[in-house]
Amino acid sequence: NPTPPPKPGRVLLASPRSWCAGVDRAVLAVETALEQYGPPIYVRHEIVHNKHVVQSLQNKGAIFVEQTDEVPEGSIVLFSAHGVAPTVHAEAAERRLATIDATCPLVTKVHKEAVRYAKEDYDILLIGHEGHEEVIGTSGQAPDHITLVDGPEDVANVEVRDESKVVWLSQTTLSVDETMETVGALKNKFPNLLSPPSDDICYATQNRQVAVKKLAEDADLVIVVGSKNSSNSIRMVEVALDAGAPAAHLVDYASEIDEAWLDGVTTIGLTAGASAPDVLVDEVLTWLAEHGYSDVQSVQTTEETITFALPKELRRDLRTEI
Ligand code: F3S
Repeated sequence: NPTPPPKPGRVLLASPRSWCAGVDRAVLAVETALEQYGPPIYVRHEIVHNKHVVQSLQNKGAIFVEQTDEVPEGSIVLFSAHGVAPTVHAEAAERRLATIDATCPLVTKVHKEAVRYAKEDYDILLIGHEGHEEVIGTSGQAPDHITLVDGPEDVANVEVRDESKVVWLSQTTLSVDETMETVGALKNKFPNLLSPPSDDICYATQNRQVAVKKLAEDADLVIVVGSKNSSNSIRMVEVALDAGAPAAHLVDYASEIDEAWLDGVTTIGLTAGASAPDVLVDEVLTWLAEHGYSDVQSVQTTEETITFALPKELRRDLRTEI
């Protein structure tokens, strides 16, 4: 075991961190549906990309499926925060499924932009990670008009029909800096490239990146709580390293922290991705205190006050109950 630091090691705890408004709403939607209608409630894809959240909802009676055709006809299915393509709604209707759409409103905003630009016959360059569920859902809004651009190195391969009618949109959970680099490269190639009316990278992703950058200035090690398939959490590790943190790691649970990481470390920066619940951060804080890092200081870069109402299908049913 590494010897604990001689005086209490320091933890810089980022704020904001952990659940965003869209994740909070999606998890509450599954819990409310379970209470309201009783199990099983089917959920298409991981409701949010977090192991702990998925397991706890499974324990309460949620059944996670990959495809709509795995849901028995006539059942209730909930769509995840990442959003789905219109074809998925059509499949669900065909199977006579009752649907609850927990797509984050900030993802729906990007869907609407895609539909609008497609109607105006723009070529839409969607900056995002190939295969990510949000990208699949957004691409499905206008499959004939959308081309995926997966980072700056992808720009050379991009082709459009008419260079005077091109717009870029993006996944909501990307690295702000890398996206701007991609946009810069796209603008070099297509000088008339139009930008979306407002940021597609959501407030929660941006705020968590600003906070982790701040931690990276003083920390010898940055720990990000989040799952390996969580886009915004992976980006936070990258952002911490880019901002100068000597080391940064992603962990689902405190038990995944390797004691060897603590060698020579006095200050640890701690944060969590938008899909990771704060209870896991508390567990990491306890673990760190047991290893000599008991001086916890908050590093707050902004305050978040955004909340979203439950999906409309649930609000409607809750209303009729009253
Ligand atoms: Fe929505 Fe951003 Fe969270 S898109 S689900 S608020 S990470």
